[in-house]
Amino acid sequence: MTTTAGDLRSAGKSAMYREPTRADLPDIQMIDGQAFRDQRYPFFVLRQLLEAHSYRSVVAVEPEANGEDKVVGYALTIGEGKRAWLISLAVSPERRGYGYGLGLLRRSVELCRERSDVDEVLLTVDPKNRAAYTLFRNFGFTLHEHDERYFGDDEPRDVLIYKLHRITPPVGIRENGYSGT
Ligand SMILES: CC(C)(COP(=O)(O)OP(=O)(O)OC[C@H]1O[C@@H](n2cnc3c(N)ncnc32)[C@H](O)[C@@H]1OP(=O)(O)O)[C@@H](O)C(=O)NCCC(=O)NCCS
Repeated sequence: MTTTAGDLRSAGKSAMYREPTRADLPDIQMIDGQAFRDQRYPFFVLRQLLEAHSYRSVVAVEPEANGEDKVVGYALTIGEGKRAWLISLAVSPERRGYGYGLGLLRRSVELCRERSDVDEVLLTVDPKNRAAYTLFRNFGFTLHEHDERYFGDDEPRDVLIYKLHRITPPVGIRENGYSGT
């Protein structure tokens, strides 16, 4: 599914949010490396994560003059059962501040909501990462727990949680809106 960003602040640019394809992998790898440097995913891990979880991963793409897509950000969500984990979210440095991070986050949560088994979305964030922390808190994520050594020495992380708050239909009303047995 593709979503057009309605609230882009990008001058003259319009972004689309869609499922990643294999052809997007080099761009995703570059953005991942620029964002996370020595903590970036090895290529084979990124490749396999996207292969296994593309259906709930998202890329933000801008159309180029040659008609091709330019990937400017990506988000990767994994997990089984009621908990989904947003394990990576990054926007290319030159395209930050245009609303893509929020667009990727919104679409990722939307994809979790579309799956009836998922109740909550979790993620980890470095407490010193002001941009990411502000993005997540303003969206509605709250503190779940803090771990001083989450990724080892001097690598504290806050685990944030977003509850999907599904509306349960009253007893006797099926999910499709019909009542009766
Ligand atoms: C975090 C990140 C994804 C944000 O992407 P972005 O496209 O620049 O963010 P957006 O333009 O959508 O901003 C959405 C909101 O995030 C917050 N935000 C973004 N950048 C911010 C900054 N530098 N300082 C404070 N808040 C910031 C703001 O609340 C902003 O809303 P506003 O513009 O209405 O104030 C981006 O900075 C990034 O890729 N960082 C490196 C990777 C990373 O840290 N990922 C998160 C790992 S947990």
